[in-house]
Amino acid sequence: MSCVKVPAIRRFENLAHVNGLSPVLVQDHYTLYQGYVQKAHELCQLHGQAVRQKRSATETDLRNLKRDLTFTLAAVRNHELYFSLLGIHELDCPQMLSESIKTDFGSFDNFISDLTRTALSTHGWVFTVLDHHSNHLINITSAQNGQFPMWNATPIIVIDMADHAYYYDYGSHRAEYLNVLIKNLNWQNVAANLQSAMDAMKAAGLPSASVENHTAAEPHSTAVSPTLELDSSLAVGV
Ligand SMILES: [Fe+2]
Repeated sequence: MSCVKVPAIRRFENLAHVNGLSPVLVQDHYTLYQGYVQKAHELCQLHGQAVRQKRSATETDLRNLKRDLTFTLAAVRNHELYFSLLGIHELDCPQMLSESIKTDFGSFDNFISDLTRTALSTHGWVFTVLDHHSNHLINITSAQNGQFPMWNATPIIVIDMADHAYYYDYGSHRAEYLNVLIKNLNWQNVAANLQSAMDAMKAAGLPSASVENHTAAEPHSTAVSPTLELDSSLAVGV
């Protein structure tokens, strides 16, 4: 039995430019992510030992390791996608993305409203995914790491709604945190994630009609421009 190749800790220098979240909160969150990567490496080593030793007739050791490894790898990947989308303020939503959003939600404002309401309904993660079954963008939730809510869907946006993502700055005012988060989203990166998801669909021989008809539209202004000054003093992961 093999284990996955756990990547090295990634640096996210873009986090130095997040508006509306304190450097302390962002640094603590990044440190939590670092811990998940280190834990994933440890679990893969233990996984290898457990497999080689075959020491449990009931596979209890392996089951526990698999559970912990699933949880930890999901935490790593969720945080990496979440961090990668923050702090650059590419305000124009690329036409490919804006037209896909318009097709599936009616308007960009409808999408933001649905994303916000979905996020506020969970204390775990909220994902915007390209669902490969329906070929539509949808907003879905996960209660915690390791519970990605459904298969055959690719996340293009991930937002952390756990307490540690906002409570230091916003207390129980989750809507304020979410408003700040959405203003910090890098729509160029979101569009790149959607393009990658569509490319994967195409490579698998699946249709991707939701986007092919939208190449002539103009870029969409997201109207979620940041209102706070850039804070470039924060150095995360350096
Ligand atoms: Fe988190």
